[in-house]
Amino acid sequence: MVKTCSIEYHDGWFHLSNEKVSYIMELKGGRWLLHRYWGSRIEGYDGSNQPELMKRAFASTPDPDDEMFSLEMAPLEFSTAGRGDFRTPSISVRRTDGCPAVRFCFESWNVEDGLHIPEGLPHVRPSEEYEAKTLTIRFRDESTDTVLELLYSILEERSCIVRSARIVNEGTEPVFVERALSVLLDTHWNGEELVTLHGSHLAEFQVDRRAILHGKTALGSTRGASSPQYPAFAVLCSPDAGEHAGNVRAFSLIYSDNHLVEAELDQYDSLRVVLGINPQDFSYMLGPEESFETPQAVLVSSEGGFNGMSREFHQLWTDRLFPPQWAKKIRPLLLNSWEMCYFDVSEEKMLKVIREAASLGFELVVLDDGWFGCRNDSKSSLGDWSVNPKKFPNGLDPLIACAKENGIQFGIWFEPEMISPNSELMRAHPDWAVRFPNVEPLLSRNQLVLDLARPEIQDYVIKTLTSFLKQYPVSYVKWDMNRHITDAGSMLLPDERMREFPHRYMRGLYRILRTLTEEFPDVLFENCSSGGGRFDPGMSFYMPQTWCSDNTDALDRQSIQYGASYLFPPSAIAAHVSEIPNHQTGRRIPFVTRTDTASMVNMGYELNILELSEEERARVQAHLAEYKAERRLVFQGAFYRLRSPFHGKICAVMLTDAERTEAIIYAFTPAYSVTALCEMIRIPYLASGTVYEDILSGKRFSGSELQKAGLAFRFDKGDYPAKKFHLRALQETEDD
Ligand code: DGJ
Repeated sequence: MVKTCSIEYHDGWFHLSNEKVSYIMELKGGRWLLHRYWGSRIEGYDGSNQPELMKRAFASTPDPDDEMFSLEMAPLEFSTAGRGDFRTPSISVRRTDGCPAVRFCFESWNVEDGLHIPEGLPHVRPSEEYEAKTLTIRFRDESTDTVLELLYSILEERSCIVRSARIVNEGTEPVFVERALSVLLDTHWNGEELVTLHGSHLAEFQVDRRAILHGKTALGSTRGASSPQYPAFAVLCSPDAGEHAGNVRAFSLIYSDNHLVEAELDQYDSLRVVLGINPQDFSYMLGPEESFETPQAVLVSSEGGFNGMSREFHQLWTDRLFPPQWAKKIRPLLLNSWEMCYFDVSEEKMLKVIREAASLGFELVVLDDGWFGCRNDSKSSLGDWSVNPKKFPNGLDPLIACAKENGIQFGIWFEPEMISPNSELMRAHPDWAVRFPNVEPLLSRNQLVLDLARPEIQDYVIKTLTSFLKQYPVSYVKWDMNRHITDAGSMLLPDERMREFPHRYMRGLYRILRTLTEEFPDVLFENCSSGGGRFDPGMSFYMPQTWCSDNTDALDRQSIQYGASYLFPPSAIAAHVSEIPNHQTGRRIPFVTRTDTASMVNMGYELNILELSEEERARVQAHLAEYKAERRLVFQGAFYRLRSPFHGKICAVMLTDAERTEAIIYAFTPAYSVTALCEMIRIPYLASGTVYEDILSGKRFSGSELQKAGLAFRFDKGDYPAKKFHLRALQETEDD
């Protein structure tokens, strides 16, 4: 098949397509942009799925000569309130006299090679190797001369469409953008169901699936972060869709701040999905010639069920979102000090940790919270990023030197967006915290947030981190963010711009991250927000891996990582083996289950390695050696979910290489079952013409029987058992 992508326009139809996907719109009557199709590629389109228009009571008709056409019934690509479409709008622009600008009329369109890069925002990266095309469709509101541009990109080989919008004030008066969603899409509802992610601290990425009923289902964040509560992600799936098969269409936003995702089933069984910046407490003033760009949204479609969808996201993020120098690179096997020491860190202790970590086989030791200012608990010092002289009298040089002597790397924790009221920084700059004038801001974890909407504070953070990283050549930075944003205002923003604060904050943070990661491309930045509190494609543009949850309990982690894998590949999901009883749940989960659970993704450790028995040392050493031998599948392979912990008692996943010559299957259950004759997993992702040997048991099976008949096995007796299979192809893989 020819690999290419194209955007064609003929007889009023726009058809974006590549070898996998089609996205079709109609420019009806040269005026209205209507959605017609989005899904797997179709060769030609002549409107076979278009309903006949009918005159309806209550419908307002924008064209007095056409009583059949109302925006209320039209499948739209954007909508403004006030023109007869009473569903959720995507665009709202207000004039200074309070009137809305509602008449965006089609003006022009054009196609350009390549991808559009939204200024100052993370985005799908262009590539010289693969073709991409971008369609821009322009509308103008004549009362204000405000221009709305809808942008659609299609990429060669990828089953996705990238959408965003841009609003430009070409008039002479300021206007207020009050709603600027990246996506609005109306589609005929065929009984699709809605899959979303929800969660909390310690329980991120839980999977929800629900019937769509009439009315609106809305999820979003107003927390100043994408949040563990409701990530900006939604999936429409056919009722029969499962992990391996079924029609799935997914929406993801490349953004890390307040967002809204909403599905609305209307009176005529038309389904509207909107996604973008949350309009609550949002407004952006555009002076003449100023413009506003929305974050990009990525729309993925698959007929291969949820695994088909995830594979698309995993490949897209790996090839076109993560920092390219890290995307497929094997990451160092790290030991983090947090659960071992909490705030009680010191030079003496860390030197011992580094030597022991190196002898066990770790490749990186990370000094977590507690190393700076007067930090002995969470009550002080955020902002004072100088080494605590009592804990580290010789600075960090001895630790970095010791790591080097022992052939490993050294990394460090920061929470650069924060300021403790009890800090030198606060005493020097009492007006630097996020707050409204004359309102005492709320504390959370005893801390306030730095006002990153202000360029001089962005510069300060950049300068502080830059001089630290120049003084101390660390290989890794954990970038933490441990509270959500309240009192979302800035001391310096004028009243009419106060509601711009959340987006300005995020753009400020993106600027800081862009500057630092460009200046230090060899430093591995790990994203964290009390675990996965801001684990989204926006942050992943700068930081290729994220500490997925503060919950290190293996049982809970199985579902958290399973849910995270809907959107992220295993390379991006950091998991640590921790001690028992587990610090979050008190559970005592066997070592092998803990190591297998962490090894399915980007694995590290977070336990006291200075107090291991000889037997435990040997087990840790053996596990690290095993992970090193297998980890190319985590960083360069493909990840598939086989059994969902959200729909039964078994969690099973598989890692394999692109050629399917090697596969590792991990299966878990909370407790041994006396009634189960056996457990059975079907593995549709192996090569059917290949014979595989499980190198752990010596048993041999054909790929075809594992695909269709499945693999029967039994868990060992006891609580939280785990089972691992390591399949190697005995014969050359044949294409099937
Ligand atoms: C929250 C993070 O998720 C933890 O891993 C740890 O770094 C603490 N913050 C430190 O305060």
